[in-house]
Amino acid sequence: MAKVLAFINYKGGVAKTTSAYHIGCWLAGRKEKRVLLIDIDPQTNLTFLCASVGDWERRKRNPGTILRMYKRYVDGTPIDTKRYIWQEPIRLRDRRRHPRVHLIPCDIDLIGEDVATGSIVGVHPSMAKLKEQAVSVLRDRQFLCRVIDEVGSDYDYIIIDCPPNLYLMTQNALLASDYYIVTAIPDHLSTIGLNTLHRKVREMDKMLNSAATLAGRHQARCAELGGILFVRVRIGGQVMTNAHSNKMAEVRSTFEDKCFDTHTTELIGYTEAAANSLPVWLHDSENARRATKKQEYPKVVDELLERF
Ligand SMILES: Nc1ncnc2c1ncn2[C@@H]1O[C@H](COP(=O)(O)OP(=O)(O)OP(=O)(O)O)[C@@H](O)[C@H]1O
Ligand SMILES: [Mg+2]
Repeated sequence: MAKVLAFINYKGGVAKTTSAYHIGCWLAGRKEKRVLLIDIDPQTNLTFLCASVGDWERRKRNPGTILRMYKRYVDGTPIDTKRYIWQEPIRLRDRRRHPRVHLIPCDIDLIGEDVATGSIVGVHPSMAKLKEQAVSVLRDRQFLCRVIDEVGSDYDYIIIDCPPNLYLMTQNALLASDYYIVTAIPDHLSTIGLNTLHRKVREMDKMLNSAATLAGRHQARCAELGGILFVRVRIGGQVMTNAHSNKMAEVRSTFEDKCFDTHTTELIGYTEAAANSLPVWLHDSENARRATKKQEYPKVVDELLERF
């Protein structure tokens, strides 16, 4: 059964997608793991790191994206996940495809769907009413659990790229994952919410467990914090800027062994590779080669394989 990892931070622009993509590609390309990427962010960035807009539009028409899968789930129809999995969407040179990376693509139209209908509210509600609400709370959050039930045994790693919020789809990801990984730029504004994020996930875990008890179901468990990965660390000359190294030390003192030893640095090669829908080590430019030389994501993957 696959290990399921969700890349989460309600802060935007902190390399969640870049990390999910590069880690997934390295696991598949160099470590020969079977990898499924799931894009649940309506910005559709992970999808477009894997494929062109034209390829995605064809795919959207037939068989459809995660949006169609979600609608099937809501309608109570079996999702039939395999039908929607895009096998080897990343085009390499010579008509080859990146091996072993599969994708569930996202869709901008998922935006309006990310709204929960159920919550446990009301003054002295009856037991029957409470149970009904608990069932609804769980149903809204178990779409990705069903997806993974259907295809989890076909993969070694399933990597979910979350939007920059903790709304319904992210809650789905937390319930479906074994671990969540938080990416953070080591500066004041990007790290200020780390404690809050961790607390929110634990609160969600408690709420969903209560819902499971009320609904007479098995325990519903949210993912554990799997790690904090520092990204886009700024280098001045040959060394890390003081502000970033001080902030990393501060976060490490709170989260200790949860922080990855490796980090990524701010390098234009990542942006250039993204514009060509390729991981940095497969993109041919001077800046991409400079980034590749640093072996940042390969080192993150080595740590990740040790952890999970
Ligand atoms: N190490 C890096 N060096 C330079 N640019 C980077 C690096 N990592 C990511 N980027 C760039 O930063 C931007 C934001 O990255 P990304 O989209 O991965 O963040 P995100 O957290 O997924 O954002 P969102 O919250 O909007 O989903 C992108 O343009 C990406 O190419
Ligand atoms: Mg993103």
